[in-house]
Amino acid sequence: MDTKEKYSRYVNTAFMKKVQPVVFEKAKGSKVYDEDGKEYIDCFAGIAVTNAGHANQDIAEAAKSQMDKFFHCCSYYYYVKPVADLAEKLAGITPGRLEKTFFGNGGAEAIEGALRLAKQYTGKYEFVALQASFHGRSLATLSITGNSTRKKGGGPYMPGVAFMPPPYCYRCFFDLEYPSCKLKCARFLEETIRFSTSGSVAAFIAEPVMGEGGIIVPPKGYFEKIKEICDEHDVLFIADEVQSGFGRTGKMLAIEYWDVEPDIMVMAKGLAGGFPLSAFIARSEIADSFKPGDHLSTFGGSPISCAAGLANIEFLEKNRVPEEAAEKGAYLMDRLKGLARGHAIIGDVRGKGLMVGIELVEDRNTRVPSSLGGSIQEECRKAGILIGVGGIYGNILRIQPPLVIKKEELDTVVAHLDRILP
Ligand SMILES: Cc1ncc(COP(=O)(O)O)c(C=O)c1O
Repeated sequence: MDTKEKYSRYVNTAFMKKVQPVVFEKAKGSKVYDEDGKEYIDCFAGIAVTNAGHANQDIAEAAKSQMDKFFHCCSYYYYVKPVADLAEKLAGITPGRLEKTFFGNGGAEAIEGALRLAKQYTGKYEFVALQASFHGRSLATLSITGNSTRKKGGGPYMPGVAFMPPPYCYRCFFDLEYPSCKLKCARFLEETIRFSTSGSVAAFIAEPVMGEGGIIVPPKGYFEKIKEICDEHDVLFIADEVQSGFGRTGKMLAIEYWDVEPDIMVMAKGLAGGFPLSAFIARSEIADSFKPGDHLSTFGGSPISCAAGLANIEFLEKNRVPEEAAEKGAYLMDRLKGLARGHAIIGDVRGKGLMVGIELVEDRNTRVPSSLGGSIQEECRKAGILIGVGGIYGNILRIQPPLVIKKEELDTVVAHLDRILP
């Protein structure tokens, strides 16, 4: 049996509409090679993970050097240097007073921990989240995910979660326009707390740039208004940077685009350049509200992943990768907007840095979502370009490449899209 046949017999992929028919053999930088030697330009980075490039040498060396020492010891039972070093680094690169980190393995686990910490610190038990959001696949993270297509069949979910409309300007849930809307979607937090909760709200959680929901960038002033309302109600603000972090949006962390300091920040995906690692960081007084016995993770803070994580961040900093992602992303979006002139299917091009979405529509006036996303993804793959598809209507082409992608490769991607898009 070959790999694909073994997958179909032994790997549970029943939850996937389709596994992309590419058997990864090796990958380097922004290039992927399948087992037949076919080369692809990767515009999805394993769902926005390998920001520093596939098989990054600095990261590989840091991980190998740790592997030569030991793999595991439980980083909460004993002291481990790479854990301490990475935690110190995270305190340095995250905004304001965020200081103490808990490490887990994946995004959902870290979000779960952040929710628990918010409850513990505030003594309150409800949450406000956004419609169209995505926070993971565990019970609590699905409970705060605002998308029924992700949740169906998994309920009943955790009680005490109120949802409010997202800052999705292209499809404003209030049918308003920025700036005359005066940020109704942010101001609505006040009404949500007042009318949709019992008033015991521990935290408001949101992605600084929404990923799975369709690469949704909030308008200027959104998070400042949100934070102001949170503060008035003693509600913590949890920033879910799982997808938007580590240079992806043109800043080390996407929340830097707004003048706010989250109370808790969650990170994963791009944190360790492809090694499984997640984290949530909080101010000391919040972090210290955990008491003995309240939290732990056997594999959390893997010494190998933490060594890789530190090398990853140092690589991003040393090579000005976030700044370059900002430039390349602006260039790409400019070119895609140019493409929109000849392709009516492009309803919107948006994003920050190299977190870019192309919203496909049947008609620009009615904005009815197009159903062609999957077939365009397939045509791209045949042409040697790997892209993602997402959004609440499944009509967003997601361009989220390794950030080391070259401008010429982005030109190739645009040229293929020009040929493939109807
Ligand atoms: C914003 C956001 N939060 C949380 C998660 C969950 O992360 P993981 O799949 O590592 O559990 C994801 C995954 O896509 C995400 O995009």
